[in-house]
Amino acid sequence: MRVLYVAAEAAPIVKVGGLGDVAGSLPLALKRLGVDVRVAIPWYPEIDALRWQVQENGGVGVTRLGESEVPVYLLARDVFADAGPHKAIAGTKAEETWFSGFCDAVVTFLKDSEWKPEVLHGNDWHVARALSFVERTSRETFSQWGFTHKNLATILTIHNLSYHPKMMKEAILAADVINAVSPTYAKEILTSDYCEGLCEELNARKADLYGILNGIDYGVWSPETDARVSTKYSTVTWKTGKAGNKMALRQKLGLAKEGGMLLGFVGRIDANQKGIGILAEAMDRLVALGSQVVVLGTGDPKYEKRLALVAARYPKNVACILRYDEDLAHLIYAGADALLIPSKFEPCGLIQLIGMRYGTLPIARATGGLSDTIRDGETGFLFTAYSSQGLVGAVERARDMFAAEPVSWEVLVGTGMREDFSWDRSAEEYLRLYERALAKSG
Ligand code: GLC
Repeated sequence: MRVLYVAAEAAPIVKVGGLGDVAGSLPLALKRLGVDVRVAIPWYPEIDALRWQVQENGGVGVTRLGESEVPVYLLARDVFADAGPHKAIAGTKAEETWFSGFCDAVVTFLKDSEWKPEVLHGNDWHVARALSFVERTSRETFSQWGFTHKNLATILTIHNLSYHPKMMKEAILAADVINAVSPTYAKEILTSDYCEGLCEELNARKADLYGILNGIDYGVWSPETDARVSTKYSTVTWKTGKAGNKMALRQKLGLAKEGGMLLGFVGRIDANQKGIGILAEAMDRLVALGSQVVVLGTGDPKYEKRLALVAARYPKNVACILRYDEDLAHLIYAGADALLIPSKFEPCGLIQLIGMRYGTLPIARATGGLSDTIRDGETGFLFTAYSSQGLVGAVERARDMFAAEPVSWEVLVGTGMREDFSWDRSAEEYLRLYERALAKSG
């Protein structure tokens, strides 16, 4: 099967958020299943041509996904000449224009490339124009372009409904089949709290809407091999490993050497999705519970300021690092005791999966993929009410176990570290989805 996987970012070449992680790892798992999968992303100016050994072929950049054999096509260089990927997700109107240009380039690629996919797998609103182009274009045109099979089947994966609903709507209406990145989010988006004004369209497509849980690449995310942590560790050595990383983290951030539970938040400083509002509100109470808190991320300036003020009040117990820093993120995953994930909504969430693998228990709101992946009291702590009380209550439960029942805590850590969220199973589900899409479009 031949699949063109189209996204706005793909790690390690370019990554802004979770979409980049997924686009950088799912194709590798599909390749292992024998799929001829190729990736297309924008040719952002910051992509280092030397580092990624980019070859140019008729205006298209060609490279590989990391060390793998999966080809990556870089498209629409002119369109993105002035737009870095960080700007490209800033939520401005301009990005609609950029990604329309990207979609035009995808269509040109379909026309000009000798390699013809059977499935066009698009991700999020960025691909809307390309999907709707395929929908309204006749088979004759495709056959003139050299497509030999019956048609080009399309799939839309929804990673996050909240950006550019107008474009998302176009994509939802056009794709042969649709999936969201977790089973729970696939159900949630049919309801008014989550559908971002697209309830009607999504409900109309309900029969074609699936939920497939994201995985993570344990080749990248494993405390045994992670070059960015200060002490590597396994399921057997995690206690000493975590102690070493915790010390390194405290030292790096100027936190007190002794302290209770160390809590980490890594993500966008975003009150709309990531629950930063209830986190900011809870900070004093978290410190009063005897915890230390580390926050890493960038985003809403109002909340950045508020968090910086909290850190200034408790310099020995709170650190807020307001930037994107992949190295420090890894040290937090390894050095913290628990991760705070108070999201208002969370299509899948990857850091709870990373946290579990690193023996860092997630304390998360029960929504979307967080509900699908964390078992309360077994691999982490869940809370339901979207409020600072809800969050503090869950931290309190975690703190009680951490302080008074260390053996129970160790059992949770061990269970979490042994959970398997690798891509293999989900990749097979995608394969079945491709087959469904082909059957539908044929
Ligand atoms: C988006 C979602 C996140 C998901 C990621 C990858 O960033 O907000 O929940 O894990 O995409 O699918």
